[in-house]
Amino acid sequence: MNEINVLINKAKLEKRIEELAKQIEKDYKDEEIVFVGILKGSVIFMSELAKNMKRSVEMDFMDVSSYHGTESTGNVIINKDIRNSIEGKNVIIVEDIIDTGRTLTYVLEHLKQKNPKSVKIVTMLSKPSRRVLELNVDYIGFSIEDKFVVGYGLDYNEKYRNLPYIGYIE
Ligand code: IMP
Ligand code: MG
Repeated sequence: MNEINVLINKAKLEKRIEELAKQIEKDYKDEEIVFVGILKGSVIFMSELAKNMKRSVEMDFMDVSSYHGTESTGNVIINKDIRNSIEGKNVIIVEDIIDTGRTLTYVLEHLKQKNPKSVKIVTMLSKPSRRVLELNVDYIGFSIEDKFVVGYGLDYNEKYRNLPYIGYIE
């Protein structure tokens, strides 16, 4: 069992997620929104965010794998695409953490090809010091330093996703 230290506790996370939901509601007025969650890491953050929205939001998911070789863009493979059409709709990609930016750069281009009305990004966490590809991130829960974090959806070899806080492994 690895030692897990608390980086962001449950109360702080919940408060920040409430704020993000309020901000998103304000920005979109009464326009319809589709959340596209990136499996599996985004599921807990996405459900908390969705529960805080005072309106109906559609929810869809993508599953992608990225293999970081020597290329700056890495290789991203889509294991599962979204199920429903997003044509003419306002899409918000929901991610657990943005590290190099490779995954979301690929996902963003992929979704834009489906002719949505708009695409924005919300991420629970961001590690700005690790960015390889420049990416415009619209909503960020917390910017953190370069630590390997787990919990609230994030895993270490598929473990710790269900921790109700963000922790880091020493
Ligand atoms: P990117 O393509 O480098 O931005 O990679 C983002 C993905 O890497 C995230 O969706 C996570 O699955 C994974 N990841 C990056 N940093 C961490 C971390 O600290 N803990 C757990 N997973 C991470
Ligand atoms: Mg992920």
